[in-house]
Amino acid sequence: MISQSADNQPQRLEISSLPAVEDFGFTGGRQSFRTFCEAAFRPGSPRFMRNANGNFVIFRHKDVRALAIRPEVGSVPPGVLFSHITDFSVIEPGTIGGGIAQVLKSQVFTMNPPTHTILRKILAAQVGAKSMGELKELANKIVDGILSELEGRDEIDLSRDVAEKLTARFWGSVLGMTPEETEDMVVHVRGLSPMFEVLPTFEGIAQADTAALLYDKTIGAAVARSLVSGGCPMVERVAVGLEKVDCPDDPNRNGMVPKDAGAFFSGNLVDGFHTAALGATNVIYVLLQNVEMLGGLPISPEVISLAIREALRIEPPAIFLNRLVLEDFVYEGLLIPKGTVIAMMWGVANHDPEVFADPTRFDINRSSREFTTFGGGIHICAGLHAALMLIQTLVERLLGGDLDVEFSSEVEWMENCMMNQLKAAPLSITRRAI
Ligand code: HEM
Repeated sequence: MISQSADNQPQRLEISSLPAVEDFGFTGGRQSFRTFCEAAFRPGSPRFMRNANGNFVIFRHKDVRALAIRPEVGSVPPGVLFSHITDFSVIEPGTIGGGIAQVLKSQVFTMNPPTHTILRKILAAQVGAKSMGELKELANKIVDGILSELEGRDEIDLSRDVAEKLTARFWGSVLGMTPEETEDMVVHVRGLSPMFEVLPTFEGIAQADTAALLYDKTIGAAVARSLVSGGCPMVERVAVGLEKVDCPDDPNRNGMVPKDAGAFFSGNLVDGFHTAALGATNVIYVLLQNVEMLGGLPISPEVISLAIREALRIEPPAIFLNRLVLEDFVYEGLLIPKGTVIAMMWGVANHDPEVFADPTRFDINRSSREFTTFGGGIHICAGLHAALMLIQTLVERLLGGDLDVEFSSEVEWMENCMMNQLKAAPLSITRRAI
């Protein structure tokens, strides 16, 4: 509990005086995330911390939930995220971080109201529950195609050979990509990984910049072509929606309006390609670890949806993401000044024992209303219906049919990562004898 000063004025947040997450084991990636959850929730451990980037860290369930819905806790706009870039309308080639900025400046997660409200509405109409329900058959076909191509292979990598292909082919098909472009997207999206490093290296950012520019270019070309040739309704609807947007660009606060439909999809589908694939991989990993509790394979259709949500709680794709304080505000007697970057540890809040008893235990009877996997407030994941639909399709086909699936050796997790991501997920798939 933060105490108030003697004159009853709120105490000003001093990030440098807070304990460091590293001292509680967190340096990024899954192993350190689990170590941190154990240490940070021990009785007597601090409520607030700081991280190596000098940011304010919150991780307790009640705090992330309460702060996520505060209007003062907004998105980090491009001008703050990439403070060394002065002109976002034309980012100089070769600028470090420039490729990533080129993509992220069009993502609604870098926008604040009113720009955020308008652009998010356009996105939500495309990737909401109804629209994703209509695309379920497409996802079924894609997964069937991927699994049939893998027949006869003894060992595959779940992430590279299945999940990343699923998201690339799904969004590739929605945007009208050629098969070659779609396969290239798997490579470009993989190349983006260093942008999620907790402590990025120069080389990593340079690699992610190159990948981001190729990613952006591939989406831009497909979307431009689809607008001419027709046949991609989602692309057409976004282009029409963007024509009506009349907001000034404001890189330091409200964000930038995507210059066209290509930029819109490039920005907003980063997680559609990347995070949805890693979520699908994590879910299969958790379900296979707990398959006996689920009654063995095939997993019954009745429990699949609950099991997916619980798997995404146990191994949440995003360990933390940053938000920015847009105006001074007081929280629990603490004055949090404008300009503070808050690392919201969504993944850690999912393991808060005050809300989730015995948090590492897989239990499909928990209330998913408390889950923090997808964030909260006005920035809650815009693509959660898309993610859940794609993951469910994969689980139904891979674990709900006549396949025997198991990890063939130890999995490996990425380190130094804001994401809870598998580096290697070696899987064996065999068709069960009937
Ligand atoms: C399992 C997969 C996914 C997870 C765990 C995930 C998680 C998250 C989280 C934690 C946030 C931040 C929310 C906040 O700050 O309150 C977020 C935002 C966002 N996600 Fe996802 N995401 C996933 C898949 C997707 C997909 C498939 C898409 C696109 C189709 C997507 C698009 C977005 C966008 C555009 C935002 C920014 C929303 C806003 O600022 O209004 N995500 N996501």
